[in-house]
Amino acid sequence: MAEEKWVVMVTAQTPTNIAVIKYWGKRDEVRILPINDSISVTLDPDHLCTLTTVSVSPSFDRDRMWLNGKEISLSGSRYQNCLREIRIRAGDVEDKEKGIKIEKKDWEKLHLHIASHNNFPTAAGLASSAAGFACLVFSLAKLMNVNEDPSQLSAIARQGSGSACRSLFGGFVKWNMGNKEDGSDSVAVQLVDDKHWDDLVIIIAVVSSREKETSSTSGMRESVETSLLLQHRAQEVVPVRILQMEEAIKNRDFTSFTKLTCSDSNQFHAVCMDTSPPIFYMNDTSHRIISLVEKWNRAASTPEIAYTFDAGPNAVLIARNRKVAVELMQGLLYCFPPKPDTDMKSYVLGDTSIVKEAGLEGELPQGIKDKIGSQDQKGEVSYFICSRPGRGPVVLQDQTQALLHPQTGLPK
Ligand code: DP6
Repeated sequence: MAEEKWVVMVTAQTPTNIAVIKYWGKRDEVRILPINDSISVTLDPDHLCTLTTVSVSPSFDRDRMWLNGKEISLSGSRYQNCLREIRIRAGDVEDKEKGIKIEKKDWEKLHLHIASHNNFPTAAGLASSAAGFACLVFSLAKLMNVNEDPSQLSAIARQGSGSACRSLFGGFVKWNMGNKEDGSDSVAVQLVDDKHWDDLVIIIAVVSSREKETSSTSGMRESVETSLLLQHRAQEVVPVRILQMEEAIKNRDFTSFTKLTCSDSNQFHAVCMDTSPPIFYMNDTSHRIISLVEKWNRAASTPEIAYTFDAGPNAVLIARNRKVAVELMQGLLYCFPPKPDTDMKSYVLGDTSIVKEAGLEGELPQGIKDKIGSQDQKGEVSYFICSRPGRGPVVLQDQTQALLHPQTGLPK
């Protein structure tokens, strides 16, 4: 390894994911091994993703990381476990053009700089750790020439945050709980890619929340310790649901998909209630959204919208197709209008063409304004994000998107 002050870097983009069959409960807290399988849909990274630049240079004196522009500590065991597992697997790297050669053995001594950024507001309470750890592991694997497939990488990302393992793939993804003690079979696999069921439209309602929420990590620990319903769920309910969900996804059977998704979200929240002391993630707005969707599906001849809620009040709504999504957006904006000082551009984010199709871009039409005048739910939803099933992680070739300076390896 030459001793010049070179910097080598890789920038990658990784999507976030939303579970339709939830992971809740660990059998091993250190390796992050779950008590049941789970299934998720990956969201389009154009709307929700993490961008991470990782770099290495002989001039770096320690591992450092910046998250959304602020330096954070890497001393936590989850970061340390991911870094250790990736370093063990690092290979030789050669850049002939720049005359740089890093040998496998050099990686132990070399330090890393990492900068990560979410393209969605962090305060939104959307699963940012899933995309974050998946992106960290994926980009480091590329930088260090790690010769492992995405499933093997998922077992490393899992040690950062359980749900992160499912962000190594696009489309619909299953996390096999595995049964080996070392966790080597607790990996994610892709069920179908993002093109398989691309009619689906995903609308996230970011619900205003004042309460401080219990983190997933401590919430699921308390459920494992105290909820009998969780034992029943993991042993009896989820194994059957996983098979049914795999069938529903394979056959694009939206009726079955909706039934399973909604039931599983509701059972997860029932487990939270069954935890001692009980955990309340949903709030009145979440409940109102559930009622709206249940009513909608009853009025339609077959279900048109699925809902699911993670460890917070935000609703993730999955519409059968674009036509339903446009109507749903109209209904949502009618029931949950923006505050008078909020314009539509900052109220509906992501794929805003849905708003255009709904005839709602810019100013709300007077007709709807008149209708919502009597509504008392202004401000209950902070904003909506429109998305769809998306692809897995990619390396970005465009160096201008790097978050670190190519000469110094410090944040731009
Ligand atoms: C409700 O993956 O955030 O979103 O493994 O402790 O980091 P840790 O927990 P995390 O839990 C996610 C829980 C969930 C359901 C899911 O994504 O499957």
